[in-house]
Amino acid sequence: MKKTRLCNLLGIESPIIQGGMVWIANAELAAAVSEAGGLGLISPTAGMSRNGDQVDNLKGQIKTARSLTAKPFGVNLPMLHNPQIEDLIATAIDERVDVVVTAAGSPGLYTDRLKEAGIKVLHLVASVRHAQSAERRGVDGVIAEGCEAGGHNGLDELSTFVLIPQVVDSVSIPVIAAGGIADVRGVVAALALGADGAQMGTRFVVTHECIAHPNFKEAIIKANDNDTTITGRKFGPTRILKNELAYKILEMEAAGASVEELIDFIGSSRSRTGQFEGDLANGESYCGSIAGMIKEIKSASEVIRSIVDNYDTVLDSLR
Ligand SMILES: Cc1cc2nc3c(=O)[nH]c(=O)nc-3n(C[C@H](O)[C@H](O)[C@H](O)COP(=O)(O)O)c2cc1C
Repeated sequence: MKKTRLCNLLGIESPIIQGGMVWIANAELAAAVSEAGGLGLISPTAGMSRNGDQVDNLKGQIKTARSLTAKPFGVNLPMLHNPQIEDLIATAIDERVDVVVTAAGSPGLYTDRLKEAGIKVLHLVASVRHAQSAERRGVDGVIAEGCEAGGHNGLDELSTFVLIPQVVDSVSIPVIAAGGIADVRGVVAALALGADGAQMGTRFVVTHECIAHPNFKEAIIKANDNDTTITGRKFGPTRILKNELAYKILEMEAAGASVEELIDFIGSSRSRTGQFEGDLANGESYCGSIAGMIKEIKSASEVIRSIVDNYDTVLDSLR
């Protein structure tokens, strides 16, 4: 498989990143992805109890990942509304993690500190303007995520197919495509659009190593192409599996509910309810619209191997 400049930047063999996933991007998953030649990312709340301490949890996760792989791995740190963000940044620096992926917040906040500590910084964006701003703030690369992606989406809901080439043309740093990629065809397409790598989330939920609840994995396997929807358009579009909760939110939105009413109704930690506890009716099960293509639980290394092994075949079919 093609070695892109992302491979050189991160010291990885294949330009594939396993995205951060709030409650379920655990050390075992991240380490397995890194061992297989990609870059695994740990989320500070992975496997944590509802009111747990993110810093302690992150330290434990990093320790576990280090016991499982000597290869580079990273940490995903969404910044907005996170009371522990300062301490999490300090932890990433103290623990000398290889890569930090910042999201939801300004890349101006912590990029300098992280880079001074020798950490590579990637920032998640969903528009050309934000990609350019991240480049100006000195990040090493941007992960450009289209609205096919599971979880939080950009406000303009640009699809990966239109977002990637426009971001690629507007910045000179490496661009990683995210949203709607689950196999080798998606990775080849992302590289054809000019990306230097691909990040996947939903595909990695359905792996043996991921601590997602079995009900959640099963729901993704059963899902069809049209089984996800976007809720929260007024305050933060979020792609989730269609379920009772999703329909209720959509109904409230259509009836003109205010942002306060919606936030009050949804409450906090609903994503844990769905993804980690397996209560699919009441939880927010973040899930990409590529779910319909995921039909079995694989190991993380099988996911990566099938991309690496079939890369040339797909390229040949284009000649
Ligand atoms: C269950 C789940 C949880 C996620 N949580 C986060 C998160 O905590 N932080 C983040 O930056 N992205 C998060 N994402 C987005 C992923 O990192 C990734 O960019 C996205 O899943 C890619 O699109 P795909 O779902 O089509 O593969 C999440 C995605 C899923 C499916």
